Amino acid sequence: MAKVNISGRAALLPPSPIRKLIPYADQAKKRGVHVYHLNIGQPDIETPPEFWHAINNYSEKVLAYGNSQGMADYLDKLSAYYKRCGLDINADDIIVTTGGSEAIIFAMTAICDPGDEIIVFEPFYTNYNGFAVQASINLVPLTTNAEDGYHLPSAADIEKVITDKTRGIMYCNPNNPTGTLYTIDEINRLRDIAIKHNLYLLADEVYREYIYEGEYTSVMSLEGINNQAIMLDSISKRYSACGARVGNLVTRNKDIYTAALHLGQARLCSPTLEQVGAAAAYELGDEYFEKMTNEYRRRRDVVYDGLMKIEDTVCLKPSGAFYIMAKLPIDDAEDFSKFMLTDFDYDGKTVMMAPGPGFYASDGMGKSECRIAYVLNTGDLKDAMLTLKYGVEAYNSR
Ligand SMILES: Cc1ncc(COP(=O)(O)O)c(C=O)c1O
Repeated sequence: MAKVNISGRAALLPPSPIRKLIPYADQAKKRGVHVYHLNIGQPDIETPPEFWHAINNYSEKVLAYGNSQGMADYLDKLSAYYKRCGLDINADDIIVTTGGSEAIIFAMTAICDPGDEIIVFEPFYTNYNGFAVQASINLVPLTTNAEDGYHLPSAADIEKVITDKTRGIMYCNPNNPTGTLYTIDEINRLRDIAIKHNLYLLADEVYREYIYEGEYTSVMSLEGINNQAIMLDSISKRYSACGARVGNLVTRNKDIYTAALHLGQARLCSPTLEQVGAAAAYELGDEYFEKMTNEYRRRRDVVYDGLMKIEDTVCLKPSGAFYIMAKLPIDDAEDFSKFMLTDFDYDGKTVMMAPGPGFYASDGMGKSECRIAYVLNTGDLKDAMLTLKYGVEAYNSR
């Protein structure tokens, strides 16, 4: 048989650290153990009825391609939503994408040539790695720490890693995996560096609504950076519609817009029916987000309180998104997460989390950290956190 190889790029693609423990979870379930899934950002919240209703009432007889930049009605709804958020964003600043994931790949591809660099702050949303490999670019990680709530490094530390290959700085606010909400000073710090060094500022703002304390600053509200700001967005978490695969990119830079449009034309269009559903969801008022935010705040409090009952855990209370990254009193988060699935249960139950190292690009980082997604109801979360506490004790007394 002739020997054929996959590309070097394909070989570099990392497996998702969030999904790689799934076979162990499946085996635990086969043994009859109930697994609390805190490993993945899949909320249990129902997708709003308005979304389903719009899809059920779709009356076209052909499910046709839509425009590559997005369906006109949906673009108008998005622009209106941003204006309600206080952001002056017009329909022709927006490209609808197939999930926020595609918005990120489009942005990376539009600003970088192969070999170029984007600065990121680790721990970061792990799929940035896979997107960077697809775009043949290098992520340059700057480490943030549990001890100070994973806030951003100083301007001097950021500037130290800028090279002639650097094209942008990318961040997620509020953050997945840490739940950190960056202060206005931190966002302004990034803006000033981007202006000084002629860099793009890429902001992943898919968790914009989920803020429990403090004030949120969008990249699209910053002065003096119109041409350099790119926002990545999605309905996946906003409306608990992860399977819809509808996201979008926002830019006022017309060259970036055109590049993203051409990328969009190559893949024809994003899902038609789901844009119809999403357009209806964007008509929901503020009460929807108030209800969701209150629910997630309660969940965060339960998880945080539970973590504080595990002695020697390092974790500042995060202010946004629906994740907590905690430094647990364990020495190997991968091994511990596996142990929880293969060797432990408390009263027939166990917990699945995402081990920290997968959220870092630097070797050896995150070894004691795990990410918890608080996507279950408070009753289940209480039980899960007690189970986790007993799991840590069992692991450390093996
Ligand atoms: C920070 C962040 N950005 C982007 C995405 C991708 O979202 P989508 O489902 O819209 O592709 C996710 C999904 O979990 C995320 O957490």
